[in-house]
Amino acid sequence: MELPGPKAREVLERDGRTTSPSLPRAYPFVPARGAGSVIEDVDGNVFLDLNAGIAVTSTGHCHPTVVEAIQRQAAELIHYSASDFYLPIYSELAERLAEVAPMAGGVRSFLTNSGTEAVEAGIKLARWSTGRQYVIAFYGAFHGRSYGSVSLTASKAKYRAGFGPLLPGVLHAHYGDGRDMAVPPRGDEEGFPTIDHIEGLLMERIVAPEEVAAIVVEPVLGEGGYIVPPEGWLRALRDLCDRHGILLIADEVQSGMGRTGKMWAIEHAGVEPDILLSGKGIASGMPLGAMIAKETVMTWTAGTHGSTYGGNPLACAAAIATLDVIRDEELLENAAKVGDVLRNGLRDVQSRHDVIREVRGLGLMIGIELPDHDTAAAVERSTFERGLLMLGCGDASIRMSPALGFREDQARVALELFEEVVAETVER
Ligand SMILES: Cc1ncc(COP(=O)(O)O)c(C=O)c1O
Repeated sequence: MELPGPKAREVLERDGRTTSPSLPRAYPFVPARGAGSVIEDVDGNVFLDLNAGIAVTSTGHCHPTVVEAIQRQAAELIHYSASDFYLPIYSELAERLAEVAPMAGGVRSFLTNSGTEAVEAGIKLARWSTGRQYVIAFYGAFHGRSYGSVSLTASKAKYRAGFGPLLPGVLHAHYGDGRDMAVPPRGDEEGFPTIDHIEGLLMERIVAPEEVAAIVVEPVLGEGGYIVPPEGWLRALRDLCDRHGILLIADEVQSGMGRTGKMWAIEHAGVEPDILLSGKGIASGMPLGAMIAKETVMTWTAGTHGSTYGGNPLACAAAIATLDVIRDEELLENAAKVGDVLRNGLRDVQSRHDVIREVRGLGLMIGIELPDHDTAAAVERSTFERGLLMLGCGDASIRMSPALGFREDQARVALELFEEVVAETVER
């Protein structure tokens, strides 16, 4: 197929003249309509979508239950500010989120329009409720682009460059097995060198632990490369927080809402966060985020935080429908099962093409490590040209994050096309 096609080229030309040049477009894909995991561009080219709008359309494109819920709500009430009045659907969604939250005891929710706003709300609540000002985040992490969240973000310097000064009181530590450290720790040590580094170095030389409000962690690194931390690491992080009265904030904007085969990725580790941040897949594509906190933590008083649009009725209706579909269509089970099919299939591909350095992930959150950035970019572009939508992540990886209802037969088609791309693009 000719890509970009004539209609797509018209859009690209107008876009090039009129939109912010900061938008980080990956390749010239110009979507027009979608259903499930199939999406068509403006020229009628059809693609298998392993991006799901970047881990957003959790129930697939335009799931009928979600569409119907949005249409029904739109005909009743499109907006009334939930910060100032009592929207029934706002607390209905908060109740549904409480049912699936990975914390024992009561929780409360603050709804936002995006992931980054959920992160901002989490930082503010942590500082407010502890009376402490420092926040620790991780190298490789992506938490968004508004000032608080970009101060936590440390996946690529370009997200931060030119925007300083950023939020004071933010420190960074090494994630998981420390694979990004200049000299990675040896694998045979007891415990986790990256945890020792926080307690033995950061907290000895830079900040006293009683000044740290929160540690913010992605239970699986998203934009930073779809990296799963070693078993026991999140538990060790939780224990460290408990030793010093620090809140553990799980940023599940990308890893949550069933993507890893459990509702929240942190559940794989059997760890409870104090605050959980959700976004992306929460409303199948409607703009919504949530900051969910233990009620013992969410004690801030009226007027301390709010939002005109956060928890907009259309987005709430889509989120409730999304939760219904995940439950009724057993999408967690599907994500785990089809995720295994994809990962096993990719490991077979790896056994035939050693350009694939690693296949990793949980459920339908899958990262494929290639030798370098240029190879990852070439594979990303070639998959697009073959009708498969994938996106780079980390320094030299490419990710698969299809809708939770991705089918086994679709997975097999994706694997076949991906192997063709690897064989032709990389090994020519
Ligand atoms: C883990 C994580 N947190 C926060 C964000 C920011 O979300 P948004 O782009 O909706 O502001 C993202 C977006 O990619 C993310 O992956």
